[in-house]
Amino acid sequence: MSGAQRVDWVSRPAKALHGDVVVPGDKSVSHRSMMLSAIAEGTSHIRGFLEGEDTRATAAVLAQLGVSIEAPSTGERIVHGVGLHGLRASNKPLDCGNAGTGMRLLAGLLAGQAFDGTLVGDESLSKRPMRRVTDPLAKMGAQIDTQDGLPPLQVRGGRKLHGIRYELPVASAQVKSALLLAGLYAEGTTEVIEPHPTRDYTERMLQAFGWPIEFSPGHARLEGGHRLRATDVVVPADFSSSAFFLVAASIVPGSQVRLPAVGLNPRRTGLLEALRLMGADIRVENQGESGGEAVGDLVVRYAPLHGIELPERLVPDMIDEFPALFVAASVAKGRTVVRGAAELRVKESDRIATMAAGLRALGVQIEETPDGAIIDGGALGGGTVDSHGDHRIAMSFAVAGLVAREAITIGDCANVATSFPGFVELANRCGFALG
Ligand code: S3P
Repeated sequence: MSGAQRVDWVSRPAKALHGDVVVPGDKSVSHRSMMLSAIAEGTSHIRGFLEGEDTRATAAVLAQLGVSIEAPSTGERIVHGVGLHGLRASNKPLDCGNAGTGMRLLAGLLAGQAFDGTLVGDESLSKRPMRRVTDPLAKMGAQIDTQDGLPPLQVRGGRKLHGIRYELPVASAQVKSALLLAGLYAEGTTEVIEPHPTRDYTERMLQAFGWPIEFSPGHARLEGGHRLRATDVVVPADFSSSAFFLVAASIVPGSQVRLPAVGLNPRRTGLLEALRLMGADIRVENQGESGGEAVGDLVVRYAPLHGIELPERLVPDMIDEFPALFVAASVAKGRTVVRGAAELRVKESDRIATMAAGLRALGVQIEETPDGAIIDGGALGGGTVDSHGDHRIAMSFAVAGLVAREAITIGDCANVATSFPGFVELANRCGFALG
């Protein structure tokens, strides 16, 4: 599905960026809202649903499993939940597209069903490690066959699951969420302990759907045997999509951009702190709450940036923002050092290697390390880079093009539609020169 047609971009140097930029709905929250609505009792109304390929793939999988989903307007979904045991088998593979979140969470959900299901993905997803979910799910009694740890995942139904206490070896909200979803179907208590706290959307949303759950940063615990009651969900704007504009306006002289009503869950906003440590001028205005999540307007003005040693504690809170941070570091004065971010190597691409290769092609001094990079900031030249079909890499190099001496050609950008449909139009409206 995603990336079927090759799309290349050219990003040219541009003048100051201005205006309001309304970014689409949060990807993590959209996936979860669709899954929980599907297995709840009653009809849930979702607003602000991300119309990206990843989240639409999750909706399509649930529709294939017998859930009726209406889409009355863009970003709106009415989901007629079938209850915890109401999903039905499909004899076709369940296509998660490019979405690691979709596949890993659905693995947890399918593990508790009475029927078999096969989860497949695109070329990039087919290379991503799945043992991190299938191993602990097996401890709960699930049977999931992989191809040497990779997709497709053949999830066997009719298994009796039991709760476990699991200490995650890596900080991963996807793994935590897969176990909690399987835990809904398990006998007894499922308890997850994380080495560093990660985004808690699954926990918060389970609570909103009426499932008793105890959670605090780094810890979650629930029991099987309850029911989910339909509820309405308002999805905030995606902080990770905002990140490209936070960096863009920070590095283009004279810029001022406002990003309204962005989700500010503290487990997502590490980049705000990182950029501020680098000297960025970003203010939060109109702080409030929407659908149980902290939201606020982000107002970002140009400011000269300097390099930093990134505090390792920020890594999980900005795990999707490193491609954008690497661009900021490349134009900052002095050296930026990133450590403790080995997880970047198993994202939609190996984000350390892909960013290092691209930045080097633009003349940046960057040294790759096993778990990060050392970047010496300076001027960016033009050139050709390859995003390796990774949406966030493509958008990050579009930002780099704003301040490069000459145009940057970016290869393989179609997958931007997985998380940020309409990025090019939105970017050009505030001053990018991207085509
Ligand atoms: C996500 C968790 C993170 C993140 C991904 C979305 C989620 O992945 O990178 O984009 O929605 O739970 P990991 O769990 O692999 O860290």
